[in-house]
Amino acid sequence: IMKKHPIILDVDTGFDDAFAVLFAAMNQEVELLGITCVDGNTNVHQVVKNTLKVLDAAGAGEIPVSKGATKPLVEEPLYAEHIHGADGMGDLELPESSRNIDRREATELLRDLVESRPNEITLVPVAPLTNIANFITKYPASAKKLKEICLMGGSASVGNATAMAEFNIWHDPEAADIVFKSGIPITMYGLDVFYLPIITEAEAQRLTNSNEKSAQFAGKLLLSSMRRLKQNVTLGDYGAVAAVLRPSLLRTEVFDVGVETAHGLVRGMTVVDRRPRLEL
Ligand code: BDR
Ligand code: CA
Repeated sequence: IMKKHPIILDVDTGFDDAFAVLFAAMNQEVELLGITCVDGNTNVHQVVKNTLKVLDAAGAGEIPVSKGATKPLVEEPLYAEHIHGADGMGDLELPESSRNIDRREATELLRDLVESRPNEITLVPVAPLTNIANFITKYPASAKKLKEICLMGGSASVGNATAMAEFNIWHDPEAADIVFKSGIPITMYGLDVFYLPIITEAEAQRLTNSNEKSAQFAGKLLLSSMRRLKQNVTLGDYGAVAAVLRPSLLRTEVFDVGVETAHGLVRGMTVVDRRPRLEL
């Protein structure tokens, strides 16, 4: 019997978030329990719309999708529409979804799902960590019942939003700080691996020509992004879900990671302590 991984996604869909959603919704090894949406690449209302459209493209069953934070904990949002398109997801002019949004706010959905499956669930945030920080602050006892967090965010080398900060952490460093200090076991799927799963134009074209609705959607999204960015593109956030299913494909090491929240040159940097541990 195949073991299914119970997963909750937290997204800011988002061109590459779309692949994380598509993959989690369609992969037989994933039990996708719910999706929470947050302000990030674009505003949270648009993020919800985009996410529902991806679930349509995936032909997914009923999966609770809820709206979360409309802005970072402290600062005003800065969007990334130059990367993701005016609608945040490639401007494909997809039909609106008729799916309903879950009536619970993101932190409440997280609480209910975690309480229903204590110590089993892997939370996969691929977006700024505002919802997750709010969940930890509001429902600390429930948050402790997560099995682990495998997040896309941060970097052990250079950044993308700024020289040293990765976008998801940089968008809400105060939230990231709360999450990294929470004591919940965290795997950081950072920029060091994020850009590696590359798709070529020929591969994207092949998907577009498929008879499968989900593959056509993926292909069109990839081609639109290739045109905007004028290069081959990464599947990005998808990798954080893949890392949960196939941890042995990635080399991981244990380090202390701090988040810089000061308003200087490296705000939003994940400071990875690589010093050798002295056993004194
Ligand atoms: C991260 O930022 C977003 O733009 C992407 O969706 C990804 O989650 C990469 O820095
Ligand atoms: Ca994202």
